[in-house]
Amino acid sequence: MLLKDKVAVVTGAAKGIGKCIVTEMTKQGAKPVILDFDDRAGLDLEEELKRDGADPLFVKTNVADYASLCGAKEAVIKKYGRVDVLVINAGVSRKMSIGEITVDEWNWVLGINLTGSFYTIKAFHGEFLKKNRDDPGKIIFISSGSAITGTGGGCHYAASKAGQHGLMRTVAKELGPHSVNVNAIAPRVIMTDIFDHLYPTEESRNKLLEKIPIGRFGLPEDVAKLACFLAGPDSGYVHGQIILADGGRTY
Ligand SMILES: NC(=O)c1ccc[n+]([C@@H]2O[C@H](COP(=O)([O-])OP(=O)(O)OC[C@H]3O[C@@H](n4cnc5c(N)ncnc54)[C@H](O)[C@@H]3O)[C@@H](O)[C@H]2O)c1
Repeated sequence: MLLKDKVAVVTGAAKGIGKCIVTEMTKQGAKPVILDFDDRAGLDLEEELKRDGADPLFVKTNVADYASLCGAKEAVIKKYGRVDVLVINAGVSRKMSIGEITVDEWNWVLGINLTGSFYTIKAFHGEFLKKNRDDPGKIIFISSGSAITGTGGGCHYAASKAGQHGLMRTVAKELGPHSVNVNAIAPRVIMTDIFDHLYPTEESRNKLLEKIPIGRFGLPEDVAKLACFLAGPDSGYVHGQIILADGGRTY
């Protein structure tokens, strides 16, 4: 098991890619922490993981609220006394043109995707300063290929995801000397609720499929398995990288 007894905190973990990451990390022996503001889905997942014999923790958390994240960190430390893996995954997207994006809409997307990423790092940062070669840490941002291509969501989404890349690179510089690997996975077209919203029709999906050399849409498991590798012991020299999970579509 790659992650035996590692405490793995995942934001936006109640559904979609985050849920799959938590589930795969649990299969790899991790103690899973589900942070999400959807308490019904979060509690359901906590129950599901308990039934499978794991020791999970769900904390209702809004990543756009720093105090909420500080409370979540306290709850994690109270239960497990440590954090080993942090996956910054919570995110929202809406496909809109610049003209359609209001100031409130811009602030909402940036507030969750980018400021929420900073709040998450800030709340958990002290735990990662304690890491060392014998007890390394791992931080993984789930960004998006939109940061590179400008496609997929609106300009607010692409800007928020590009901002995550800058944040990731600085965190990598600061926490690398503490034996914390920091990387980003940039998925494109993974089949979750966001995908259903962005590509609602058969026609839009078929058009998209033609652009993916590997010939299928991505699955949450494609991202989750990569996240497990980055969280595990074999990724020690992968640091400050943006790894596209896109079936070859971008390059
Ligand atoms: N699905 C894709 O095609 C795709 C592609 C590229 C990047 N991504 C990125 O992957 C991540 C996960 O996307 P997904 O497709 O699983 O989305 P999803 O909508 O299926 O799940 C997102 C989760 O985040 C939670 N969340 C939203 N706002 C929150 C907040 N303020 N505080 C706490 N939790 C909150 C939701 O409750 C939900 O459980 C996002 O960052 C997204 O931008 C997804």
